[in-house]
Amino acid sequence: MKKFTAVQDVANLEDLVNEALHLKQNPYEYKHLGENKTLGLLFLNPSLRTRMSTQIAAVNLGMNVMVMNMDKEGWALETQDGAVMNGSTVEHIKEAAAVMGRYCDIIGIRSFPKLQNREEDYSEDLLRKFIAYCKVPVVSLESATRHPLQSFADLLTITENTPAGKRPKVVLTWAPHVKALPQCVANSFAEWMGKAEVDFVITHPEGYELADEFTGNARITTNQQEALHDADFIYVKNWSSYTDYGKVLTEGEGWMLTNEKLQSTNNGKVMHCLPVRRNVELSDEVLDGPNSLVLEQANNRTYAAQAVLKRLLENLR
Ligand code: CP
Repeated sequence: MKKFTAVQDVANLEDLVNEALHLKQNPYEYKHLGENKTLGLLFLNPSLRTRMSTQIAAVNLGMNVMVMNMDKEGWALETQDGAVMNGSTVEHIKEAAAVMGRYCDIIGIRSFPKLQNREEDYSEDLLRKFIAYCKVPVVSLESATRHPLQSFADLLTITENTPAGKRPKVVLTWAPHVKALPQCVANSFAEWMGKAEVDFVITHPEGYELADEFTGNARITTNQQEALHDADFIYVKNWSSYTDYGKVLTEGEGWMLTNEKLQSTNNGKVMHCLPVRRNVELSDEVLDGPNSLVLEQANNRTYAAQAVLKRLLENLR
């Protein structure tokens, strides 16, 4: 593996899942692999889970870790080619990425979409330029359109909670929120489920269709009740509109997942990437109940990151 920005960077998904599950049982087996290697984690946006789990993963592999909150501690970045930098930006991504590539053997970067211009966000301009200029392997810590480490941890969680040989029904359901959120988690989850051995259904209100490039052959319905029937896993997530880009089209009355809605599922396990708005996206009763997997998902973020870093370290040699 040379970079990790999407499921397409994974040559054999089953192998990578098995590697992560093995590392979960044996977290220190490769503690010398990352000796004298440095991981740089760059955040242009806030994070709890991604920051902490990726640090633990790197330390388990013996790496040094540097964390930089670029939005607060770094110079304001310019990304436009040929820009006359007489405004508020101080450093061009050409130099910034190249310099960090000299300090680090592997770099993780988080950069959310601005939700103003769909073409700009979906071009993944910043991530692409960072990869081009830093010249070391890059791990996406959530980009403008995807959150692959989260999706990998989600697949681990589904795998661990599925009896051998069963093909589970997995439902991604839109949920209400108080602000406009990116489509990254939903896009990415859809993309990973498209490669997994699951029956995948997406449900959302009218106007919240995701881009076809991510949903692939998923079954899509605006009838949440119908989608939830017999579901083994229910992944709850809000996203803003892709078609009316970045807009909140509805308050989503009736879309919050409750215990009552779980009745029609196959004792469905409930997933959310966190952070979650309690009693807006998911009710207290569901989050605190026996069907919630949200903490297992967060725990698996460490082993997803560790499997990815291990593959990248092995490729450095
Ligand atoms: N799920 C997730 O990525 O959490 P953070 O934003 O806290 O890293």
